Amino acid sequence: MQIYIVNDSPRAVALAQDLSLPLTDYWNGTGCLLRYDDDALTIITAEALSYSVNFLSGRLNYRQKRASHEAVVKAMGQKKRVLDATMGWGRDSFLLSQAGYDVCSLERSSIVVALVKDGQRRLQEKPFKILQQEAVEYISTLNQNDFDCIYLDPMFPDLKKSALVKKDMQILQLLATHDEQQGNLLDTALKTNIKRIVVKRPAKGSTLTLEKPNHSYTGKACRFDVYFS
Ligand SMILES: C[S@@+](CC[C@H](N)C(=O)[O-])C[C@H]1O[C@@H](n2cnc3c(N)ncnc32)[C@H](O)[C@@H]1O
Repeated sequence: MQIYIVNDSPRAVALAQDLSLPLTDYWNGTGCLLRYDDDALTIITAEALSYSVNFLSGRLNYRQKRASHEAVVKAMGQKKRVLDATMGWGRDSFLLSQAGYDVCSLERSSIVVALVKDGQRRLQEKPFKILQQEAVEYISTLNQNDFDCIYLDPMFPDLKKSALVKKDMQILQLLATHDEQQGNLLDTALKTNIKRIVVKRPAKGSTLTLEKPNHSYTGKACRFDVYFS
């Protein structure tokens, strides 16, 4: 899918260079468009869905104020240095950082990385570190003591089939490469012997691989499977 950047400012030109994407003065409505709307880098799809990363708005703002109550935080336990290997829009990374964790986040999509970095720019702080990286490659280089915990939240497998998927997740689906080999993430993470691996799953979904978790935390919409080594 082609993504264009509106040619309306020096920072748009710089972004186009960074991401190696074409600039346009007129968008014909195909593919997706990136542009700065009210200072926020925003993605707009052909279906007129739009999204920008705003850490301090709406429900996420409410959740970050009571981050220690979040299921993702409870699943991480006392382990402090977390690798969020599947950052997406960075909500879980943000909640973990607000609960006091030292978070490094990986994301393979350069567009998703640009949008999340722009959200951090407007926040005027960097609550978590972001690396544009393929997670399986990165994790396979890790030693046991590099992190206390690896967190995995690959795409929910049936997301494409649901008519009720929220617009931000629909856009993420467009930008992210669908991966048939999500189990590789867990297999590679387990091989590092890092003490705790946490995998987010749909509440009633299957485990990511045939490997059984040592413990699970189940919330309303999702479940966190925990593997200890
Ligand atoms: C379900 S989303 C994660 C949502 C995230 N937990 C949040 O709070 O916003 C999954 C993300 O992981 C990324 N991803 C999946 N597999 C990956 C891999 N092997 N390496 C890097 N990124 C990956 C996808 O591009 C997608 O953006």
